[in-house]
Amino acid sequence: MQPPEVRRDLLDALPDEHIETAYAKINLALHVRARRADGYHAIESLFVFAEDGDWLAGVPTDDGAIDLTIDGPFGEGLGAGQDNLVMQAARALQSYLGEQRGAALRLTKRLPVASGIGGGSADAAATLRLLARTWDVRIDAKELAALALSLGSDVPACVASVTQLVRGRGELLEMRDIEGLTRRPILLVNPGVAVSTGIVFAGWDRIDRGAMDATSLDALIVGGRNDLEARAMALAPEIGAVLAKLRSAAGVRLARMSGSGATCFALFDDPKDAARAATALRRDRPAWWVMETRIRAA
Ligand code: C5P
Repeated sequence: MQPPEVRRDLLDALPDEHIETAYAKINLALHVRARRADGYHAIESLFVFAEDGDWLAGVPTDDGAIDLTIDGPFGEGLGAGQDNLVMQAARALQSYLGEQRGAALRLTKRLPVASGIGGGSADAAATLRLLARTWDVRIDAKELAALALSLGSDVPACVASVTQLVRGRGELLEMRDIEGLTRRPILLVNPGVAVSTGIVFAGWDRIDRGAMDATSLDALIVGGRNDLEARAMALAPEIGAVLAKLRSAAGVRLARMSGSGATCFALFDDPKDAARAATALRRDRPAWWVMETRIRAA
């Protein structure tokens, strides 16, 4: 087995086929409809994906070992052991195959962890895409979706990483092409507080506030909600400060929390307004994480 240092060298300057972006997931709206008997919640959510995210690089090896190194601004403190979702995804694909193919992987963690933008889920999905390609795995869409769901509720949607209406626990997916979303400027802002998805869901007040109309961006702005916002804000009051800042930015169309928080997003019509808001936030709140990106094509 090659030492990790050599493997890291292997991962530098790789051709595109060995690289995946683990696109950040944003819930434009997230309606929680019911608590299910299995403890999960029945949701309705419009998922969009940013053009930016974590980076995953990988090469196949023939010794059966999965070797993961982690770097990047949010890599510190993130374990590269068996409970890392990249490792879990690689292991799940290995057991599907029934043979021990190996890989050297490097995750560059650019998204804050436990932050409502699906970082770990996107990493798992990127691992499945990368290894299915480089190991040349034949797996049908249904089996891939089941394998993805075994890794986490958001992982099935992250496999395609395009705009989708997501229902059930996260496994019922309908691709949506909503006018005005593709390439729309979006800011992602996190106040530096990690929030546990399980705890936020468990604190939902069990009031069903109604179905989602995801037929247009306007409908999502006017009638859409994030039903986890109140509970997340009670745990992390900084979320309120982020939302207030984003809502006061010039040219903002919508500011809302994503997922179980604490990351919030703001949609703009004009990229210049998004850039100005990002510059002002970085100046006024240097401790906050700010990512200026666009919504991926449907
Ligand atoms: O599926 P995943 O492991 O990512 O979910 C983390 C936690 O979030 C779950 O253990 C559950 O408590 C909560 N959750 C939920 N309903 C969902 C998705 C997640 O209650 N639809």
